[in-house]
Amino acid sequence: MPSVLIKTYGCQMNERDSEQVASMFLAGGYHLTQSEAEADVILINTCSVREKAELKALGKMGLLCARPTAKPWVVYGFMGCMSQSRARSLFRDVPRLDIVTGTQQYHHVYELCNRLLRSRMGNNTDTPLRKGAHICHTEQEEGFQNAIRDHLPPAGNCTAFVSIMQGCEMRCSYCIVPSTRGNECSRPAEDILQEVRELVERGVREVTLLGQIVNRYGKDEPIVNGRGAFVRLLEALHEIDGLARIRFTSPHPIGFRQDLVNAYTYLPKLCSHIHFPMQSGSDRILQLMRRPYKNEKYLRLCEAMREARPDLAITTDIIVGFPGETDEDYQQTKAAVERIRFDNAFVFQYSPRRDTVAAAMPDQICLRVKEERNHDLLETVNRIATARNHALVGTLQHILVEGPSKNNPERLQGRTSQNKPVIIPGGSATPGHIVPIRINECTGFTLYGDVV
Ligand code: SAH
Ligand code: SF4
Ligand code: F3S
Repeated sequence: MPSVLIKTYGCQMNERDSEQVASMFLAGGYHLTQSEAEADVILINTCSVREKAELKALGKMGLLCARPTAKPWVVYGFMGCMSQSRARSLFRDVPRLDIVTGTQQYHHVYELCNRLLRSRMGNNTDTPLRKGAHICHTEQEEGFQNAIRDHLPPAGNCTAFVSIMQGCEMRCSYCIVPSTRGNECSRPAEDILQEVRELVERGVREVTLLGQIVNRYGKDEPIVNGRGAFVRLLEALHEIDGLARIRFTSPHPIGFRQDLVNAYTYLPKLCSHIHFPMQSGSDRILQLMRRPYKNEKYLRLCEAMREARPDLAITTDIIVGFPGETDEDYQQTKAAVERIRFDNAFVFQYSPRRDTVAAAMPDQICLRVKEERNHDLLETVNRIATARNHALVGTLQHILVEGPSKNNPERLQGRTSQNKPVIIPGGSATPGHIVPIRINECTGFTLYGDVV
């Protein structure tokens, strides 16, 4: 039985896409492996959002292709965003690479790889290949979003990602995603509901709805009784028996209407956590970023959501060192962090991306300043996040028990509605169940508790 190794970089979108590819290999009789020596097919699902992510994937693939191997027939492939954006040029960087597939071609990966592997095995290849097959499929595919449903997460998981829309048309000046993920397209609500019902039948209790701007789901559909298509989808999912929790990521202040704020008051299955990228606290920088709103609007939305759901945890993305960012702009970002008191924030140093407007802007910030701001902001973020977590000690929380803890398989790990990881003693609960927990300890970002 041949085996496939899939390595995933980047966001949850990529994780979900890798699951789709994995499920197709499983259906074809392959087994999944973590072992590089064992794998007959090695795929890397790539991210382009920052330069580092691309360098990591390229470096890894270079090493894999150069290693001595007892299996000269191995098929090597790149999938995902870097493939979409760099296409054939990747064969120059890694000549031994066989297959490059883009972000709308995931449903073809299995067939391409399997065909190549079978033909190589049939030819009894026994000398290491120097040059790969150089097959490249990055064309946009009409209606590809309707092929998204053939995805099943690994058996036994009680949480699952569900893609509801793809692509992005915002063209923030720093961002490569619009060119890697194409135009916005939403899946039909009925397909999504059907997929979630099937997931629930297989034991899934929690779904995370994915989209680059997830709240723009069905943006061209009419507003019905004050509710847009996204909120109507949340309401319909809420009706599914057996589904306990609904999350979504990432929303954008554009198209974030009162209906979504209100949803926090009457949809109890909607979790008390939102990952809501802020990017910057300076209006001047937001404008240069082509984010079409003022920071005050962002802050007000956070406060309105907290009013609707007082225990709401808010996490965010922030970019430091965007071209032209002055110390004053940076201080405004820091002030916004202090005002919202995020539960956590990912701080990114601005990374110039090819063919983006910001990469050509004057006043690029030097690495030293980016690093300083990154370090300084993380200190603030961590101080606040830790304080918020410590404040949970002594409280009663409900966690969805996911399975053994990664660091210590003797114990179990789950997540609160606020998406905070909690470790509990092994054997004290069953994976897939939601159990009440008393939090009795906190080490910064991890909570420890006991079932009550
Ligand atoms: N669609 C989401 C973000 C997807 S990219 C949204 O707009 O909310 C994830 C994060 O990567 C972004 O929120 C941003 O903070 C960061 N990012 C994107 N491009 C970047 C770049 N060129 N340099 C540094 N960080 C970047
Ligand atoms: Fe990138 Fe902006 Fe689209 Fe998010 S909204 S994916 S940051 S262009
Ligand atoms: Fe990266 Fe593509 Fe996601 S660029 S962040 S993997 S959409």
